[in-house]
Amino acid sequence: MCCGETASKASDSLWVHPLRALLAFSLCHLISGYSEHDRALELMSKYPLIDGHNDLALKLRILHNNNLSQINLNHVSKVATDISRLRAGHVQAQMFAVYVMCGAQQKDAVRLTLEQIDVVRRMCTEYQDFELVTSAQGLKDSEMRHKIACLISIEGGHSIDSSLPALRMFYQLGVRSMALTHSCNTPWAESSSNLYKVFLKRESSLTQFGKDVVDEMNRLGMIVDLSHTSWATASAVLGYSKAPVIFSHSSSFSICNHSRNVPDELLRKLKKNQGLIMVNLYSHYVACSDKANVSHVADHFDHIKRVIGAESIGIGGDFDGGESFPRGLEDVSKYPAIIQELLRRNWTESELLGVLRTNFLRVFEDVEKVRDQRILQKPSEAHIPLEQVQNPCRLVLRRPDFPSKAEEKSLSLLVLTSVLLLSSLFLD
Ligand SMILES: *[C@@H]1O[C@H](CO)[C@@H](O)[C@H](O)[C@H]1NC(C)=O
Ligand SMILES: *[C@@H]1O[C@H](CO)[C@@H](O)[C@H](O)[C@H]1NC(C)=O
Ligand SMILES: *[C@@H]1O[C@H](CO)[C@@H](O)[C@H](O)[C@H]1NC(C)=O
Ligand SMILES: [Zn+2]
Repeated sequence: MCCGETASKASDSLWVHPLRALLAFSLCHLISGYSEHDRALELMSKYPLIDGHNDLALKLRILHNNNLSQINLNHVSKVATDISRLRAGHVQAQMFAVYVMCGAQQKDAVRLTLEQIDVVRRMCTEYQDFELVTSAQGLKDSEMRHKIACLISIEGGHSIDSSLPALRMFYQLGVRSMALTHSCNTPWAESSSNLYKVFLKRESSLTQFGKDVVDEMNRLGMIVDLSHTSWATASAVLGYSKAPVIFSHSSSFSICNHSRNVPDELLRKLKKNQGLIMVNLYSHYVACSDKANVSHVADHFDHIKRVIGAESIGIGGDFDGGESFPRGLEDVSKYPAIIQELLRRNWTESELLGVLRTNFLRVFEDVEKVRDQRILQKPSEAHIPLEQVQNPCRLVLRRPDFPSKAEEKSLSLLVLTSVLLLSSLFLD
């Protein structure tokens, strides 16, 4: 654009001086080379990014056992996320995943999730640069205060141990989004992965209790996240949720056919739901290999825009989740490279500010509107049938009555009878 102007304004004199024309031409090239870079930075300082997914909290657990006092979050080594790089990347808000391994599903997933929420809350209150936010308005306000907003997002329905009261208490702690599954099925929803052989597919990819979970999330104003669920579950939820949903960190299946990505048919359903797909940058989802670059990433944006429009797209980097990221997108400071590439591919500034911020804000506000419409609805008292949970860690609630002397006697009598009966069988 600037080159066009320069050329037309200067055209008269350039006509006379070919050398000057050549100079101006190369200057133009120089300017245009820089200009998408500069335009990307300028756009992002006006409309800083809201990113859908980051696994720093998982890395804090793995590397530091959540000992925050031992690190300085301004500069953290061996991770892709710290305050200085978030600032450099013009990240204004980050959904931090509180993720616990699927292996905890029938053990202490709830405790581990509480500990991950604790570490995100500590990090976002102990550092001045951060601010914990729990509403769309809070998110906008934090931008005015030049803070990096932290949103808390549960990654995997196993974190609630099939309990709506647990879900509500997580909401009270500030959780505003939950992915219905991670790599394991829950008793009520199905994962895109077959890694764990628990709660295998039954008659339905979203059971009655799964619908109760979605209903309760709609009532609370918690965003339903479909990244990691199976397509059948995603499809069922898209047909059921009263509020828009998100894929917080998934890319396009048409561009890279990984089961974590979203096929066009589901994208169209997402459009009808007025939800959002936040493009994942992990090389294996972007290029189906560990060798990827910014062009591969931009191909996902171009394709999804062709299918459902730019207003349905956001960014969910997945930094510190995956192991290999595209060349030029190695950490959270590199987001401007995506915007630069999309500008080069003629994305308009209004499409890009949607991708950066306003598409997510619209979805979050719509989710809050659905909550506000249900203000009179009481908390759900739906319980999952115990036989569907199969969790040996669950205490079956009853009066802690120790057997009386009489009961003890009848119990030993029962045992004795069974032993006699069994031995008579074997003697036969
Ligand atoms: C965390 O801190 C505790 C107490 O200071 C210490 O015993 C433990 O070794 C630390 N863990 C790691 C992984 O740094
Ligand atoms: C992806 O495509 C490759 C090559 O066409 C094929 O071998 C593979 O099975 C496909 N994967 C999925 C998940 O469809
Ligand atoms: C990305 O890699 C592909 C080959 O896989 C190549 O054609 C393309 O030019 C590269 N793009 C950039 C920006 O390096
Ligand atoms: Zn994930």
